[in-house]
Amino acid sequence: MKALVLAGGSGTRLRPITHTSAKQLVPVANKPVLFYGLEAIAAAGVREVGMVVGDTHEEIEAAVGDGSAFGLEVTYLRQQAPLGLAHAVLIAREYLGEEDFVMYLGDNFIVGGIEPLVRRFEDERPDAQIMLTRVPDPRQFGVAQLDAAGRVVGLEEKPEKPKSDLALVGVYLFSPAVHEAVAALKPSWRGELEITEAIQWLIDAGRPVASTVISGYWKDTGNVADMLEVNRLVLEDVEQRLDGDVDGASEIIGRVVVEAGAKVANSRIVGPVIIGAGAVVRDSYVGPFTSVAENCQLVDSEIEYSILLRRASILGVRRIEASLIGHDVEVTPAPNTPRAHRLVLGDHSKVQISS
Ligand code: G1P
Repeated sequence: MKALVLAGGSGTRLRPITHTSAKQLVPVANKPVLFYGLEAIAAAGVREVGMVVGDTHEEIEAAVGDGSAFGLEVTYLRQQAPLGLAHAVLIAREYLGEEDFVMYLGDNFIVGGIEPLVRRFEDERPDAQIMLTRVPDPRQFGVAQLDAAGRVVGLEEKPEKPKSDLALVGVYLFSPAVHEAVAALKPSWRGELEITEAIQWLIDAGRPVASTVISGYWKDTGNVADMLEVNRLVLEDVEQRLDGDVDGASEIIGRVVVEAGAKVANSRIVGPVIIGAGAVVRDSYVGPFTSVAENCQLVDSEIEYSILLRRASILGVRRIEASLIGHDVEVTPAPNTPRAHRLVLGDHSKVQISS
């Protein structure tokens, strides 16, 4: 079995964070979301990965390299425009050959990995196996309808009136039969070749399509609250590890990771928290469920339940909560007079100010 990992697309839903970086590289507990997927693929025993990349290919290639760090052999497949998930299968036709494959959307996060799914597919060997999860707003997903016996009877891409709350999760397993389905597709209303329609084609052709309902799933719905929540879920599993420099005036409580090269001085850190390499935390408080990325600076500040991307600095601000702070952002207090806010905010930023 091979894997096809999709790491293209533009990531409009996570703006402004994705203005300057690929959505698949948005970090969860200081690790790009894509890396969790690659680890899950390796853990399922798959070695060969075709990585479909678009405009952000340089950034993805710099992060993933040849895949050897994950025990994988990665081949990059360039998609000239984001023309849909089934289009990605189309351009990977030669790479995939006659092998079964798992298609993994690089911006999806699945708690617990994919090994059981891969084993089930190998045992039952349907032509497609999909994963479903219940979501509050199915309109932003592919939606499945099951019959009383749990068989998939119909699929719709981003329906205005969803027939169920079962959304398609971004992990699919296919036999080579899918290539025939993909070749028969026409672009959808949004101008894309939809994998949802390819699976519907298989159902209509009487081919076996299996499904599993899972929980523990996240995708970039554009909702920062969701991102903070998945960050919390992952941090729940960290163990204490203090490889960096923590001075005697600091207090570390609970499951806190301080990476090598990070410095914590005269601060109180209440886990679960991760502090990345090269970060400096001085005269500050860092509260539960916070990820501080590499080379951040937190001085004379308080922060809790938040994500800081690399090189962000927070100097003299208390208290920040439930916030997502992009890379190279600076947050500082405003001078007391005149009473005005001075802001430099990218397009689509969201800021709450007490005034
Ligand atoms: C794609 C699929 C959709 C699926 C979703 C899961 O949506 O088209 O069926 O539910 O991934 O992440 P897109 O990311 O293209 O909006």
